Amino acid sequence: MKKKALIFGITGQDGSYLSELLLKKNYEVHGVKRRSSSINTNRIDHIYQDPYQKKRNFILHYGDVTDSTSVSQIIKKIKPNEIYNLAAQSHVAVSFEVPEYTANADALGALRILEAIKFHNLQKITKFYQAGTSEMFGKVQAIPQNEKTDFYPLSPYGVAKVYAHWITRNYREAYNIFASNGILFNHESPRRGETFVTKKIISAMCRIKFGKQKKLFLGNLYAKRDWGHAKDYCLAMWKILQYKKPDDFIIATGKQYSIKQFINLVAEKLKMQIIWKGKGLNEKGYNNKKEPIIECDKNYFRPLDVNTLLGDSSKAKKLLKWKPKINIKMLIEEMIEFELKNISK
Ligand code: NAP
Ligand code: GDD
Repeated sequence: MKKKALIFGITGQDGSYLSELLLKKNYEVHGVKRRSSSINTNRIDHIYQDPYQKKRNFILHYGDVTDSTSVSQIIKKIKPNEIYNLAAQSHVAVSFEVPEYTANADALGALRILEAIKFHNLQKITKFYQAGTSEMFGKVQAIPQNEKTDFYPLSPYGVAKVYAHWITRNYREAYNIFASNGILFNHESPRRGETFVTKKIISAMCRIKFGKQKKLFLGNLYAKRDWGHAKDYCLAMWKILQYKKPDDFIIATGKQYSIKQFINLVAEKLKMQIIWKGKGLNEKGYNNKKEPIIECDKNYFRPLDVNTLLGDSSKAKKLLKWKPKINIKMLIEEMIEFELKNISK
């Protein structure tokens, strides 16, 4: 019998890569999508439109993690072997604007799924994966961060994810549910949402290079992130649920770059020259015609920002035999290639 997986957040960046991975592994993949006023399935349309997958292995359901009835009914109906909770209001800056909704979806969403597993007595059938985040480390208490590092979240998003992390551990210990936390550092891809910094930079710089945009406005250029590729990280999620017992794992590359360094790497790949001048809000990136093409805008700064994130994934390397295959230069190359194809269309 085929294994059944249920993905909350299937229409997101990770949901799409995880679906592809699980289908390759011969799972029957169920996904929960929300109703939206415009189409939100762009990242999975290629799977859904494949007649073979559509008929047999890839099934979508309407639901929402803020709606316990839909969560419970879908889980009761499918009785999945694996549930991946990737559903979240995942934008850190937005979480300052909609903190209550972020808590409802990102914190209580995990609780609703765990409750449904418990309520329908699926402890022996269903394993649960919670999409935790390096944002939980916030004001970092150690460098690099590992599974033993204390959390100190700096945003409503980070705080909500800390709740989801602990409720996952609580249901593991209290009710014997196979419930694991991945603590994933930033991961990107051509399918990354447009308003996250890597996608925003690459998309704008490609457009600037071909004269389709004049300037790129950004916030904090000095925050440092440990960036990996979503494809590698989705493999880690699956491995976490195949491990012999439920546990918590850091997934990271162990390498860190600032936003400014990331821009310089993109410029190098695009053969664009950027000369940086000025300080603070007046810092600007100039092209070889001495025109400012990158500027700071105070609207893109957050009330609090996480200045540095660097993960130590030795535990995952040792126990899961996981390590990232795609480095930052390969990631940038793939994202640029995708963007240039879009521009030429
Ligand atoms: P993403 O592209 O923003 O996808 C989020 C998904 O959640 C989308 O499918 C979205 O649906 C869905 N969703 C949002 N609110 C929902 C709700 N109330 N009910 C049901 N579904 C809802 O995020 P991602 O980059 O794939 O990340 C996946 C998960 O990993 C998220 O939980 C994120 O917080 C976490 N994470 C991400 C990273 C990273 O660097 N990417 C790192 C650590 C942890 P719509 O398409 O309809 O909006
Ligand atoms: N989005 C954005 N837009 N970020 C900017 C900008 C801008 O114009 N300018 C500077 N930044 C800085 C942010 O202040 C932050 O320090 C850094 O770039 C990264 O921002 P994002 O790409 O929005 O990612 P994030 O690190 O806040 O959150 C992502 O990674 C988390 C894991 O650490 C998201 O995917 C979260 O869902 C995820 O949990």
